[in-house]
Amino acid sequence: EPKIIRNKEEMRNWSRTMRAQGKTIGLVPTMGFLHQGHLSLITEAQKHTHLIVVSIYVNPGQFAVNEDLSTYPSDFAGDIEKLKSIPNGVDVVFNPQNLYDYGFEREQSGVKKGEKEGGIVSCLEDEKGRGIGHETWIRVSELEKGMCGRSRPVFFRGVATVVAKLFNVIEPDVAVFGKKDYQQWRIIQRMVRDLDFAVKVIGSELMRDEDGLAMSSRNVHLSPQEREQALSISRALFEARSAAKKGKNICSELRRSMIESIEAAGGKIDYVEIVDQESLETVEDIKNGVVVCVAAWFGKVRLIDNMEIDAS
Ligand code: PAJ
Repeated sequence: EPKIIRNKEEMRNWSRTMRAQGKTIGLVPTMGFLHQGHLSLITEAQKHTHLIVVSIYVNPGQFAVNEDLSTYPSDFAGDIEKLKSIPNGVDVVFNPQNLYDYGFEREQSGVKKGEKEGGIVSCLEDEKGRGIGHETWIRVSELEKGMCGRSRPVFFRGVATVVAKLFNVIEPDVAVFGKKDYQQWRIIQRMVRDLDFAVKVIGSELMRDEDGLAMSSRNVHLSPQEREQALSISRALFEARSAAKKGKNICSELRRSMIESIEAAGGKIDYVEIVDQESLETVEDIKNGVVVCVAAWFGKVRLIDNMEIDAS
Protein backbone atom coordinates (compact mmCIF):
# COMPACT_ATOMS: atom_id res chain seq x y z
CA GLU A 1 0.00 0.00 0.00
CA PRO A 2 1.70 3.24 -1.08
CA LYS A 3 1.95 6.13 1.34
CA ILE A 4 0.15 9.19 -0.03
CA ILE A 5 1.92 12.51 0.48
CA ARG A 6 0.20 15.75 -0.49
CA ASN A 7 2.55 18.30 0.96
CA LYS A 8 5.91 19.19 -0.54
CA GLU A 9 7.68 19.77 2.78
CA GLU A 10 6.56 16.36 3.99
CA MET A 11 7.72 14.85 0.72
CA ARG A 12 11.21 16.26 1.06
CA ASN A 13 11.41 15.12 4.69
CA TRP A 14 10.49 11.58 3.66
CA SER A 15 13.16 11.53 0.94
CA ARG A 16 15.86 12.87 3.23
CA THR A 17 14.98 10.39 5.96
CA MET A 18 15.19 7.51 3.50
CA ARG A 19 18.41 8.80 2.01
CA ALA A 20 19.92 8.98 5.51
CA GLN A 21 19.10 5.28 5.82
CA GLY A 22 21.09 4.55 2.68
CA LYS A 23 18.11 4.09 0.36
CA THR A 24 18.06 5.29 -3.24
CA ILE A 25 14.92 6.85 -4.69
CA GLY A 26 13.41 6.49 -8.15
CA LEU A 27 10.82 8.97 -9.43
CA VAL A 28 8.16 8.43 -12.08
CA PRO A 29 6.41 11.74 -12.77
CA THR A 30 2.86 11.46 -14.16
CA MET A 31 -0.34 13.41 -14.52
CA GLY A 32 -2.38 10.41 -13.39
CA PHE A 33 -5.16 8.45 -15.11
CA LEU A 34 -2.59 5.72 -15.16
CA HIS A 35 -2.33 3.06 -17.84
CA GLN A 36 0.06 0.24 -18.65
CA GLY A 37 2.52 2.70 -20.21
CA HIS A 38 2.91 4.48 -16.87
CA LEU A 39 3.17 1.18 -15.01
CA SER A 40 5.98 0.04 -17.31
CA LEU A 41 7.98 3.11 -16.24
CA ILE A 42 7.58 2.01 -12.63
CA THR A 43 8.84 -1.48 -13.47
CA GLU A 44 11.83 0.15 -15.15
CA ALA A 45 12.48 2.43 -12.16
CA GLN A 46 12.41 -0.57 -9.80
CA LYS A 47 15.48 -1.94 -11.55
CA HIS A 48 17.52 1.07 -10.47
CA THR A 49 16.54 2.13 -6.94
CA HIS A 50 15.39 0.75 -3.58
CA LEU A 51 12.35 2.99 -3.32
CA ILE A 52 9.83 4.33 -5.83
CA VAL A 53 7.91 7.59 -5.79
CA VAL A 54 5.16 8.15 -8.35
CA SER A 55 3.99 11.71 -8.65
CA ILE A 56 0.45 12.39 -9.80
CA TYR A 57 -0.03 16.03 -10.62
CA VAL A 58 -1.87 17.70 -13.48
CA ASN A 59 0.48 20.62 -13.97
CA PRO A 60 -1.34 23.83 -14.95
CA GLY A 61 1.94 25.41 -16.07
CA GLN A 62 2.20 23.18 -19.14
CA PHE A 63 -1.32 23.82 -20.42
CA ALA A 64 -2.16 26.91 -22.41
CA VAL A 65 -5.44 28.46 -21.31
CA ASN A 66 -7.13 27.29 -24.51
CA GLU A 67 -6.02 23.68 -23.98
CA ASP A 68 -7.57 20.76 -22.12
CA LEU A 69 -6.55 21.34 -18.48
CA SER A 70 -10.18 21.35 -17.34
CA THR A 71 -11.06 18.13 -19.17
CA TYR A 72 -7.82 16.27 -18.55
CA PRO A 73 -8.99 12.86 -17.23
CA SER A 74 -8.38 11.90 -13.63
CA ASP A 75 -9.24 8.99 -11.34
CA PHE A 76 -7.09 9.14 -8.23
CA ALA A 77 -8.76 6.20 -6.47
CA GLY A 78 -8.43 4.07 -9.59
CA ASP A 79 -4.78 5.07 -9.91
CA ILE A 80 -4.07 3.95 -6.36
CA GLU A 81 -5.72 0.57 -7.08
CA LYS A 82 -3.51 0.11 -10.15
CA LEU A 83 -0.41 1.02 -8.18
CA LYS A 84 -1.33 -1.51 -5.48
CA SER A 85 -1.41 -4.25 -8.11
CA ILE A 86 2.21 -3.75 -9.14
CA PRO A 87 4.56 -6.46 -7.86
CA ASN A 88 6.90 -5.01 -5.21
CA GLY A 89 4.78 -1.89 -5.28
CA VAL A 90 5.33 1.78 -5.05
CA ASP A 91 6.46 3.41 -1.80
CA VAL A 92 5.01 6.89 -2.13
CA VAL A 93 2.38 8.56 -4.28
CA PHE A 94 3.16 12.25 -4.29
CA ASN A 95 -0.01 14.19 -5.12
CA PRO A 96 0.97 17.73 -4.21
CA GLN A 97 -1.65 20.26 -3.22
CA ASN A 98 0.85 23.05 -2.62
CA LEU A 99 3.42 22.68 -5.39
CA TYR A 100 2.80 26.17 -6.75
CA ASP A 101 2.26 29.00 -4.35
CA TYR A 102 -1.30 29.94 -5.17
CA GLY A 103 -4.81 28.71 -4.44
CA PHE A 104 -5.91 25.30 -5.62
CA GLU A 105 -9.18 26.75 -6.94
CA ARG A 106 -7.31 28.94 -9.37
CA GLU A 107 -5.55 25.88 -10.68
CA GLN A 108 -8.89 24.22 -11.38
CA SER A 109 -10.44 27.14 -13.21
CA GLY A 110 -7.45 28.66 -14.98
CA VAL A 111 -7.81 32.09 -16.50
CA LYS A 112 -10.40 32.73 -19.16
CA LYS A 113 -8.72 34.81 -21.77
CA GLY A 114 -6.67 32.71 -24.16
CA GLU A 115 -4.06 35.07 -25.46
CA LYS A 116 -1.96 38.00 -24.51
CA GLU A 117 -0.32 40.34 -26.94
CA GLY A 118 2.46 38.45 -28.66
CA GLY A 119 1.67 35.01 -27.43
CA ILE A 120 -0.26 32.34 -25.64
CA VAL A 121 -0.47 32.28 -21.85
CA SER A 122 -0.36 29.20 -19.66
CA CYS A 123 -2.79 28.42 -16.87
CA LEU A 124 -0.18 29.78 -14.44
CA GLU A 125 -0.36 33.28 -15.92
CA ASP A 126 -2.99 35.96 -15.95
CA GLU A 127 -4.34 37.57 -19.12
CA LYS A 128 -1.37 39.94 -19.21
CA GLY A 129 1.05 37.06 -19.09
CA ARG A 130 2.04 37.74 -15.48
CA GLY A 131 2.78 34.69 -13.40
CA ILE A 132 0.17 33.70 -10.83
CA GLY A 133 2.34 33.17 -7.76
CA HIS A 134 5.20 32.01 -9.93
CA GLU A 135 7.47 33.68 -12.44
CA THR A 136 10.53 31.49 -12.98
CA TRP A 137 10.61 29.32 -16.08
CA ILE A 138 13.17 26.89 -17.42
CA ARG A 139 13.59 26.95 -21.16
CA VAL A 140 15.55 24.40 -23.12
CA SER A 141 15.78 26.75 -26.01
CA GLU A 142 16.77 24.69 -29.04
CA LEU A 143 15.17 21.36 -28.23
CA GLU A 144 11.84 23.00 -27.44
CA LYS A 145 11.59 24.85 -30.75
CA GLY A 146 10.26 22.18 -33.08
CA MET A 147 7.44 19.68 -33.11
CA CYS A 148 5.23 19.90 -29.99
CA GLY A 149 6.94 23.13 -28.95
CA ARG A 150 5.84 24.81 -32.16
CA SER A 151 2.16 24.07 -31.72
CA ARG A 152 2.24 24.30 -27.91
CA PRO A 153 4.52 27.27 -27.17
CA VAL A 154 4.13 27.20 -23.37
CA PHE A 155 4.21 23.44 -23.02
CA PHE A 156 7.86 22.52 -22.60
CA ARG A 157 8.81 25.38 -20.32
CA GLY A 158 5.91 24.24 -18.13
CA VAL A 159 7.12 20.65 -18.22
CA ALA A 160 10.77 21.51 -17.59
CA THR A 161 9.82 23.82 -14.73
CA VAL A 162 7.53 21.38 -12.96
CA VAL A 163 10.01 18.54 -13.38
CA ALA A 164 12.75 20.75 -11.90
CA LYS A 165 10.44 21.47 -8.97
CA LEU A 166 9.70 17.78 -8.51
CA PHE A 167 13.43 17.03 -8.59
CA ASN A 168 14.07 19.69 -5.96
CA VAL A 169 11.28 18.49 -3.71
CA ILE A 170 11.80 14.73 -4.05
CA GLU A 171 15.56 14.68 -4.67
CA PRO A 172 15.42 11.39 -6.57
CA ASP A 173 18.52 9.48 -7.69
CA VAL A 174 16.82 8.28 -10.86
CA ALA A 175 13.84 9.55 -12.85
CA VAL A 176 12.13 7.58 -15.60
CA PHE A 177 10.41 9.16 -18.61
CA GLY A 178 8.59 7.46 -21.47
CA LYS A 179 9.90 7.67 -25.00
CA LYS A 180 6.24 8.11 -25.94
CA ASP A 181 6.91 11.79 -25.26
CA TYR A 182 10.20 11.71 -27.07
CA GLN A 183 10.87 15.43 -27.23
CA GLN A 184 9.94 15.78 -23.55
CA TRP A 185 12.40 13.03 -22.59
CA ARG A 186 15.24 14.69 -24.55
CA ILE A 187 14.43 18.10 -23.05
CA ILE A 188 14.55 16.74 -19.50
CA GLN A 189 17.84 14.96 -20.23
CA ARG A 190 19.29 18.20 -21.54
CA MET A 191 18.02 20.25 -18.59
CA VAL A 192 19.59 17.80 -16.15
CA ARG A 193 22.88 17.97 -17.99
CA ASP A 194 22.91 21.74 -18.39
CA LEU A 195 21.83 22.54 -14.83
CA ASP A 196 23.74 19.74 -13.04
CA PHE A 197 20.78 18.06 -11.43
CA ALA A 198 22.04 15.02 -9.54
CA VAL A 199 19.45 12.80 -11.19
CA LYS A 200 19.97 10.02 -13.69
CA VAL A 201 17.34 10.27 -16.42
CA ILE A 202 16.19 7.06 -18.03
CA GLY A 203 14.10 6.76 -21.19
CA SER A 204 11.68 3.86 -21.20
CA GLU A 205 10.09 2.16 -24.21
CA LEU A 206 6.79 3.32 -25.69
CA MET A 207 3.89 0.98 -24.87
CA ARG A 208 1.09 0.29 -27.34
CA ASP A 209 -2.32 -1.27 -27.05
CA GLU A 210 -2.71 -4.55 -28.92
CA ASP A 211 -4.13 -2.76 -31.96
CA GLY A 212 -1.03 -0.56 -32.14
CA LEU A 213 -2.38 2.66 -30.67
CA ALA A 214 0.17 4.32 -28.38
CA MET A 215 -1.23 4.25 -24.86
CA SER A 216 -2.25 7.66 -23.58
CA SER A 217 -4.49 9.02 -20.85
CA ARG A 218 -6.20 11.09 -23.55
CA ASN A 219 -7.29 8.01 -25.54
CA VAL A 220 -10.32 7.80 -23.25
CA HIS A 221 -11.72 10.87 -25.04
CA LEU A 222 -11.71 9.15 -28.45
CA SER A 223 -15.04 7.90 -29.80
CA PRO A 224 -14.93 4.33 -31.14
CA GLN A 225 -14.79 5.73 -34.67
CA GLU A 226 -12.00 8.20 -33.85
CA ARG A 227 -10.05 5.45 -32.15
CA GLU A 228 -10.30 3.36 -35.30
CA GLN A 229 -9.13 6.34 -37.38
CA ALA A 230 -6.29 7.01 -34.95
CA LEU A 231 -4.77 3.62 -35.72
CA SER A 232 -3.61 5.25 -38.96
CA ILE A 233 -0.80 6.89 -36.96
CA SER A 234 0.87 3.72 -35.74
CA ARG A 235 0.19 2.02 -39.06
CA ALA A 236 1.95 4.84 -40.89
CA LEU A 237 4.88 4.64 -38.47
CA PHE A 238 5.28 0.88 -38.91
CA GLU A 239 5.03 1.28 -42.68
CA ALA A 240 7.64 4.03 -42.68
CA ARG A 241 9.98 1.87 -40.68
CA SER A 242 9.64 -1.14 -42.96
CA ALA A 243 10.01 1.06 -46.03
CA ALA A 244 13.19 2.52 -44.52
CA LYS A 245 14.51 -0.95 -43.75
CA LYS A 246 13.95 -1.83 -47.41
CA GLY A 247 16.16 1.06 -48.40
CA LYS A 248 13.55 3.72 -49.05
CA ASN A 249 15.36 6.40 -47.13
CA ILE A 250 14.30 9.75 -48.58
CA CYS A 251 12.61 11.49 -45.67
CA SER A 252 10.47 13.83 -47.73
CA GLU A 253 8.89 10.82 -49.48
CA LEU A 254 8.34 8.91 -46.26
CA ARG A 255 6.74 11.98 -44.69
CA ARG A 256 4.47 12.56 -47.67
CA SER A 257 3.06 9.06 -47.66
CA MET A 258 2.54 9.16 -43.89
CA ILE A 259 0.69 12.46 -44.10
CA GLU A 260 -1.47 11.14 -46.93
CA SER A 261 -2.50 7.99 -45.11
CA ILE A 262 -3.24 9.72 -41.80
CA GLU A 263 -5.29 12.39 -43.55
CA ALA A 264 -7.12 9.78 -45.61
CA ALA A 265 -8.15 8.11 -42.34
CA GLY A 266 -9.66 11.39 -41.09
CA GLY A 267 -6.80 12.76 -39.00
CA LYS A 268 -5.75 16.40 -39.04
CA ILE A 269 -1.96 16.58 -39.08
CA ASP A 270 -0.15 18.81 -36.62
CA TYR A 271 3.27 17.57 -37.72
CA VAL A 272 5.12 14.61 -39.14
CA GLU A 273 8.85 15.02 -38.65
CA ILE A 274 11.86 12.79 -39.16
CA VAL A 275 14.59 14.00 -36.85
CA ASP A 276 17.91 13.07 -35.33
CA GLN A 277 17.35 11.10 -32.12
CA GLU A 278 19.43 13.46 -29.99
CA SER A 279 19.41 16.92 -31.52
CA LEU A 280 15.84 16.51 -32.84
CA GLU A 281 16.98 18.35 -35.95
CA THR A 282 15.30 17.49 -39.24
CA VAL A 283 17.20 15.02 -41.39
CA GLU A 284 16.96 14.61 -45.14
CA ASP A 285 17.62 10.93 -45.41
CA ILE A 286 17.75 8.05 -43.01
CA LYS A 287 21.38 7.26 -42.34
CA ASN A 288 22.03 7.22 -38.64
CA GLY A 289 19.50 6.80 -35.88
CA VAL A 290 16.40 8.86 -36.48
CA VAL A 291 13.02 9.10 -34.86
CA VAL A 292 9.82 9.64 -36.80
CA CYS A 293 7.44 11.79 -34.78
CA VAL A 294 3.76 12.42 -35.40
CA ALA A 295 1.11 14.64 -33.84
CA ALA A 296 -2.41 14.60 -35.22
CA TRP A 297 -5.91 15.53 -34.21
CA PHE A 298 -8.84 13.13 -34.27
CA GLY A 299 -11.87 15.20 -33.43
CA LYS A 300 -11.00 17.18 -30.31
CA VAL A 301 -8.19 14.86 -29.29
CA ARG A 302 -4.57 15.55 -30.14
CA LEU A 303 -2.43 12.41 -30.17
CA ILE A 304 1.32 11.98 -30.45
CA ASP A 305 3.34 8.92 -31.37
CA ASN A 306 6.80 8.13 -32.67
CA MET A 307 9.13 5.39 -33.77
CA GLU A 308 12.88 5.12 -33.62
CA ILE A 309 14.54 3.84 -36.75
CA ASP A 310 18.08 2.81 -36.01
CA ALA A 311 20.79 2.55 -38.58
CA SER A 312 20.69 -0.95 -40.04
P1 PAJ B 1 1.88 11.87 -18.52
O1 PAJ B 1 1.33 12.16 -19.85
O2 PAJ B 1 0.97 11.37 -17.44
O3 PAJ B 1 3.03 10.82 -18.70
C1 PAJ B 1 3.83 10.44 -17.61
C2 PAJ B 1 4.98 9.61 -18.12
O4 PAJ B 1 4.46 8.42 -18.73
C3 PAJ B 1 5.81 10.34 -19.20
O5 PAJ B 1 7.19 10.10 -18.98
C4 PAJ B 1 5.30 9.69 -20.47
O6 PAJ B 1 6.24 9.71 -21.52
C5 PAJ B 1 5.02 8.28 -20.01
N1 PAJ B 1 4.10 7.59 -20.91
C6 PAJ B 1 2.87 8.00 -21.28
N2 PAJ B 1 2.34 7.14 -22.19
C7 PAJ B 1 3.26 6.18 -22.38
C8 PAJ B 1 3.33 5.01 -23.21
N3 PAJ B 1 2.34 4.67 -24.03
N4 PAJ B 1 4.47 4.26 -23.17
C9 PAJ B 1 5.50 4.61 -22.36
N5 PAJ B 1 5.49 5.69 -21.56
C10 PAJ B 1 4.40 6.46 -21.56
O7 PAJ B 1 4.25 13.40 -19.47
C11 PAJ B 1 3.63 13.86 -18.53
O8 PAJ B 1 2.60 13.18 -17.90
C12 PAJ B 1 3.91 15.24 -17.94
O9 PAJ B 1 4.35 16.10 -18.97
C13 PAJ B 1 4.94 15.21 -16.78
C14 PAJ B 1 6.29 14.67 -17.24
C15 PAJ B 1 4.39 14.37 -15.62
C16 PAJ B 1 5.17 16.66 -16.27
O10 PAJ B 1 3.98 17.23 -15.85
